[in-house]
Amino acid sequence: MHRLRRSVRFSVNPFLDEDEVGANAFASRPSGTGLAVFFELAVEVVGRIESETGFVRNVVDIDAAVRQCVVPVFAAAVREHWRRGRHIDFSVLAGLLGRAWRLLDCCWAAVRVAQLRLQLNPYRSLAIDSEVAEMVYFSEKFEFAAMHKLWNDKLSAQRNIEVFGKCANPSGHGHNYTLEVTVKAPDGGAGLDVGRFEQIVDERVVAVLDHKNLNADVDYFAAVIPSIENLAVFAWDRLKGCLGQMELHCITVWETDRTCCSYYGP
Ligand code: NI
Repeated sequence: MHRLRRSVRFSVNPFLDEDEVGANAFASRPSGTGLAVFFELAVEVVGRIESETGFVRNVVDIDAAVRQCVVPVFAAAVREHWRRGRHIDFSVLAGLLGRAWRLLDCCWAAVRVAQLRLQLNPYRSLAIDSEVAEMVYFSEKFEFAAMHKLWNDKLSAQRNIEVFGKCANPSGHGHNYTLEVTVKAPDGGAGLDVGRFEQIVDERVVAVLDHKNLNADVDYFAAVIPSIENLAVFAWDRLKGCLGQMELHCITVWETDRTCCSYYGP
């Protein structure tokens, strides 16, 4: 089985009765005139490769299904809430994702939807992995800058340099890290308190690491090599059991935009 993921970008302008279709799907289609609500919906489907095409599913079909079936549902909900002066909370979004799931699942015979992820901004997303949309996955990115040295005292200096290369530089080196925390929230995310979540992640992880020399300033890394793998474990241990109703699902740490590691717990 293969999992294929396609992101579809679209905008809804609640100030207008309908949206301009536009011609640049890479940016957004409908295009969004002036100030509009921008969405990016990542559709992950699972299925076997079609012998005729070599595709699990033609992404053109995924784009068409999202634009024909899902975009009108989001557009109607945004406009309806706007007219009534009603806030669109996470449970409304989860409900919309659930509807999107059912609409898309009807479109295709040989593949099924495995995940829908709605990007709410470049750093925050909401995902479901079943049509029930009861449990939602909320992800948010944070940043911190830190210095570290990759070195194992049990190895010879020569072996450290062989293994860690430039990262074993005796006086250290720095990174601008990105940390993504994903939690599972019950009841369609109805109890998801983003402000509280951010405060906990900031206090328990980001503030502990930010602008620090990890090897020297963070006790945990006195005896643990501060690789992104171990940073993910550190963040997991600091957050597990501290998030109230929300259950920790995954930690991802990027050291550069080319290197990241995800940890789903022991
Ligand atoms: Ni490094």
